[in-house]
Amino acid sequence: MRPADAGREVTVCGWVDSARDHGGLLFVDLRDRSGIVQVTIDPGRSPDVWSGARHWRGEWTVGVRGRVGLRAAGNENPRLPTGEVEIVPAQVEVFGKARPLPFQPGDASVEETTRLRYRYLDLRRPALQDNLRLRHRLIAAVRATCDGEGFVEIETPTLTRSTPEGARDYLVPARTAPGSFYALPQSPQLFKQLLMIGGLERYYQIARCWRDEDLRADRQPEFTQLDVEMSFIGPEDVMGLGERVVRAALAAAAGIDLGGPLPRLPYAEALARYGSDKPDLRVPLEIADLTEAFAATAFEGFGAALRSGGVLRALRVPGGAALARRELDALTADARGRGAGGLAWFLYGGEGDLRGGGPPCRSPIAKFLSPDELRAIAAAGRPAPVEAGDAVLAVADRPEVAAPVMGWLRLWAADRFRLREPGAVWRAAWVTDFPLLEWNGEERRFVAVHHPFTAPHPDDLALLASGPGHVRALAYDLVLNGTEVGGGSIRNHDADVQAAVFAALGLGPEEAREQFGFLLEALSYGAPPHGGIAFGLDRLAMLAAGADSIRDVIAFPKTARAADPMTGAPAPVAERQLRDLGLRVVPPVR
Ligand code: AMO
Repeated sequence: MRPADAGREVTVCGWVDSARDHGGLLFVDLRDRSGIVQVTIDPGRSPDVWSGARHWRGEWTVGVRGRVGLRAAGNENPRLPTGEVEIVPAQVEVFGKARPLPFQPGDASVEETTRLRYRYLDLRRPALQDNLRLRHRLIAAVRATCDGEGFVEIETPTLTRSTPEGARDYLVPARTAPGSFYALPQSPQLFKQLLMIGGLERYYQIARCWRDEDLRADRQPEFTQLDVEMSFIGPEDVMGLGERVVRAALAAAAGIDLGGPLPRLPYAEALARYGSDKPDLRVPLEIADLTEAFAATAFEGFGAALRSGGVLRALRVPGGAALARRELDALTADARGRGAGGLAWFLYGGEGDLRGGGPPCRSPIAKFLSPDELRAIAAAGRPAPVEAGDAVLAVADRPEVAAPVMGWLRLWAADRFRLREPGAVWRAAWVTDFPLLEWNGEERRFVAVHHPFTAPHPDDLALLASGPGHVRALAYDLVLNGTEVGGGSIRNHDADVQAAVFAALGLGPEEAREQFGFLLEALSYGAPPHGGIAFGLDRLAMLAAGADSIRDVIAFPKTARAADPMTGAPAPVAERQLRDLGLRVVPPVR
C-alpha cells in the first residue's frame, strides 16, 4: 500500500507486530509476508472496532477490513515503505490468540537450540523468510536453465543400498527382510549413471542426500544437491553446463555476476599456490616455493626436511611485522598442532639483518642463513614484493603437510590483517586434474578422492597398476569464495576400466561383483560415455544470501548433533515397532 492507494477498500490478514495505545488512539502494526502496515483505530469514530481490537497483543493473527488513508502530516514513518499510509478499519476479526512467546522473532541474542525448538516462530523473522525466498528463486532458475537445455528432471529412489565408499550411511531397517537395511542415498550417483545407460542422455534432479558425518557450518546430515548427468560428452561440456546453471541461479537469487569465464586451476597448482583445493581467491596472497633456493642450505632446521623430500613454502603477510612475539609463538604452536615441525618467521623494517638486500630483516634464524637465502625469503612476496612492515612465514616439511599449513596461514593472515577484498566480491574457479586415488594410512589402502566411479585420465591408465597415487582423475570442483559448491567427474563407461579402478581400491573381483555387480553388468550392455556434476544448493544459497551457515537457508535444519529440537528426532520407537523389524536395542558400550 502506497499513497496512490489512498481511498481503496482493502482486507489485510496477518500478525500483530505491535499494538500501541496512544491516549485512546490505537495503533496496530500488522505484519504479513509482504511487510508491515499501520492500522489506526479511533474509539471516537468507530467504537465497535476499537472494542474488538483494544485487547490485541503481539503475534495474534487478525484480519482488518477498511480503507487506506494518508497519514496526517508529521505522522509519516520514513523507515517503512508503507510509512505514508494507514488503514482505517470498518471491521476487525481475531483468528488466533497467542500466548506470550518464548522469544521475540528477531531477537538475535536467543540461543540457536531454542530458536530451532520453535523454528516456526523464528521463521517469522523477515531475514529468514527472505533467505527462503532467495533459495526458491535460485532453484527456480536452476530448473529453468536445465529445462531450456533439454534436461529431464527425474526422481530416483531414496530407499536404496548401502555402498562402502564415502561417508557413513543413514540406514533404514527393512521389515520385509529382518536383519537387512536400506540406506538413504549419499547422492543419486549410481542411479543417474544407470539413467544414462537407460538412454535418457540429459538428467537433472533437485535431490535430497543424506550423510552421517561430522557437521559444520556448511554441512548438514541431509542436504540438497542439483544433480546432473549427461551422455556422449567430455569434461568441458559438464563444466560449461554447470557454469551456465550456477551463473543463472546466482543472478536470479541475488543479482550476483560471476564476471568473465571462470579460471581453471589444476589441483597441484591450487595446493602449491594457495595451500588448498578450495582456495579463497578473494585473498590476494600466494604461497611461494623456495625449495630450490634452499637445496644446499647449511641451516639444519630446513635442511633435514628438504633432504628427506620435503619442500620449503613461504608466505608474505602484508603488515605482519606488527605481530608480537606472543602471537608468533601461538601461531607456531597452532602450526605444530596441524602437523608442521615448526614455523619460521621473518619480520621486515626497523633494525635488522641487511644481507638479503630488501628491508632490514628480524628473525631468530636469520643469522643461520646465507645472503642468497635471505634474498630468496625477501623475494617470496606474491603478488607484491616484501616491504618494510611485512612478515614472511615459512614451513619446511613434506608437501602434504606444508601445503595445508600454508593454506591455513594464508586464511589466518587474511582474517588477522583484513586482507580479503572488501564488499560483495565473487571469486569462482574450477579446480581440475584431481588425483584419482589417495593413500589412507589408517585403512592402509588407496581410497577414491571423488568416488570410485570416476574415470582415470586416459594418459594415466597404465599407472593404475604401477603407481595408483599418481593417476589423475577426470574430475572437477567448482569453488566459490573458498567454499566447494560443486564437484563432478567423467565416469567409467568401460566395465574393464571400472574393474581396474575397483582393483586399485583393493576391491577384488568377488567383492566388486557382490557390491557393484548391478553396475558392472549394466556397463556391459552398451554404456554411453557419460559424466556429470552435483552442486550443493544449500551452500550456493548460503553464499548468495551472505549467511554464515547453511542452517540459515534451510527451513528446518538440524543441530550440530544431527538432532531436531522441535520434533525431538531422533527418538526411541515403540517396542512393537522394533519387534516388527527384528531389532533389539543394545545399550551403548562405554
Ligand atoms: P560431492 O560429494 O562432491 O559429489 O557432493 C557435491 C556437492 O554437494 C555439497 N555437499 C554438501 N552440502 C551440505 N552438507 C553436506 N553434508 C554436503 N556434502 C556435500 C557440496 C559438494 O560440492 N555424486 C557426486 C557428484 C558427481 O560426481 O556428479 C557427489 O555427490 O557443495
